[in-house]
Order: sequence, then structure tokens, then C-alpha cells
Amino acid sequence: MSAINIDYPRGISNLWVERRRVTPEAMEKFGVTENGISFSPYNFRNTFPDSRSLLLAIDLLGEDLVGVEVGVYRAESFCTKLQVCKNVKTLYGVDPDAPYSDLSGGGGGGAVGMEVDAKQIDLAREMAFHYIEWSGEKDRAEILEMTSADAAAEFEDESLDFAFVDSYLSTQDVIDHLEDWYDKVKVGGLFCGHDYNDREVYEGVQQWRKLRNIETRISEYDNCFAWIKREGETK
Ligand SMILES: C[S@@+](CC[C@H](N)C(=O)[O-])C[C@H]1O[C@@H](n2cnc3c(N)ncnc32)[C@H](O)[C@@H]1O
Repeated sequence: MSAINIDYPRGISNLWVERRRVTPEAMEKFGVTENGISFSPYNFRNTFPDSRSLLLAIDLLGEDLVGVEVGVYRAESFCTKLQVCKNVKTLYGVDPDAPYSDLSGGGGGGAVGMEVDAKQIDLAREMAFHYIEWSGEKDRAEILEMTSADAAAEFEDESLDFAFVDSYLSTQDVIDHLEDWYDKVKVGGLFCGHDYNDREVYEGVQQWRKLRNIETRISEYDNCFAWIKREGETK
């Protein structure tokens, strides 16, 4: 059992803190010796990021995949995807790295109205680049420091094998960001996102699916949603 498994699911947030300062005390606290195999701040394979429930689906989706994570923050989900899903040839990460107010969170785990100010996003950005650099996977990573809409405009329709959308801050954002990326995903590709337990996100996904007449069964678990894109669903 790894130090990280001991921590999950009670307080995974602690782990993110520990990763940021891996002191001997922290190692001791998690029961990891110097010769132990468990904890390294750059080993994301045994971590439990927000997109954890989508990893096996991505890993089984095919070979030489090209995908996107929209909303990267500290790149914890991003690095985990790269380390776990070796079938991903290129993973694009999209984030404007600008201060924001998250208006969603109603009914879910998040705090409604969470503010991320300039210094917090600056630290998150530094950490993201640092983790990607030292994850051992940076050759397969492409970061676009842009908004969802601006980045999506850079991609051809049906050019992506999967999209994980985790960038919306309101119901309208959910509708807009899903619209930004859906046509970019190939038929048979995986379309998924996070925070589905938040009322604003749930409603945004439902409203947008109705607008686009998407009736494919949606899989929902662990605050995530996912479905496989069907023929005829690109505009
Ligand atoms: C919840 S965090 C992402 C967490 C990350 N996916 C993970 O699992 O570790 C949301 C991110 O969305 C980004 N964001 C906010 N507005 C955005 C927009 N219009 N386009 C793309 N990303 C945006 C924020 O900067 C923030 O880093």
C-alpha cells in the first residue's frame, strides 16, 4: 500500500500540500522511508486527481491519441493522464492562467464564489510548468495559455480523440466550453468533464445537450460525466 492510498479518500487535499513540500517530516508522516517506493512529488501514477475516474477509459481508447484538458490549474490531472495513459501521443492543456471567480459549486463539493487572485494563479501556473517539466512526460505535453474559445479555434473539427473539460465557472461557461470542444472530438471519441455534482454544471450540461440534440447515454460517477461521441453529432 502506498502512502497515497493510506490518505485516500479521507483527505487527498493533504497530499497536494505534501507534494509541495516534501520534508523528511512529511515522508515520515506518510510512513515512507528513503528506500520506499511510494511517494515522490513527481510520481502522479498513484495520485487521485479530479479526472481519476476517466483514466482507464482514456487508456483503453486506442493508440497515439491526441487529447485536450481544458482548465489545467496545477496540472495534477494533466500529469497523471500523461504518466498513466501512455497511449496519449499529445496532450494539450488549455488555461489562460488569469485570476478568476468560480460562480459554480452549488450542491457539489466546491465552494461557491471561489476567488483565485493573481498570486494564486501565478503559483498554480508555476507549479503546472514545474510538474510537467519534471514529470518525465513533457515531450507529450503542449500548453496553450489561452481561453477555451481562443484555443478551440486553433483545432480542426474531429481532430481530437478525447476532451476533458474542467474550466467552466458558471452555467453559461459550461454551455460555451462544451460547445467550444464538442465538434473538435472525433466520432468514437470520449467527451468528458468534471464538477458534474455542482448544480450549475449539471444544468449547463443538460441544457447544452438539449440544444445539440445529444441523447447518447451519459455516464456519471465521482463528480465526472462522460460519453462517447456518435456519428452525426458534429455540426
Ligand atoms: C478547477 S481548475 C482545473 C483543475 C484541473 N483540471 C485538475 O483537475 O487538476 C479550473 C481551471 O480553469 C481555468 N479557466 C478559467 N476560465 C477559463 C477559460 N475561459 N478557458 C480555459 N480555462 C479557464 C482556470 O484558470 C483554472 O486553472
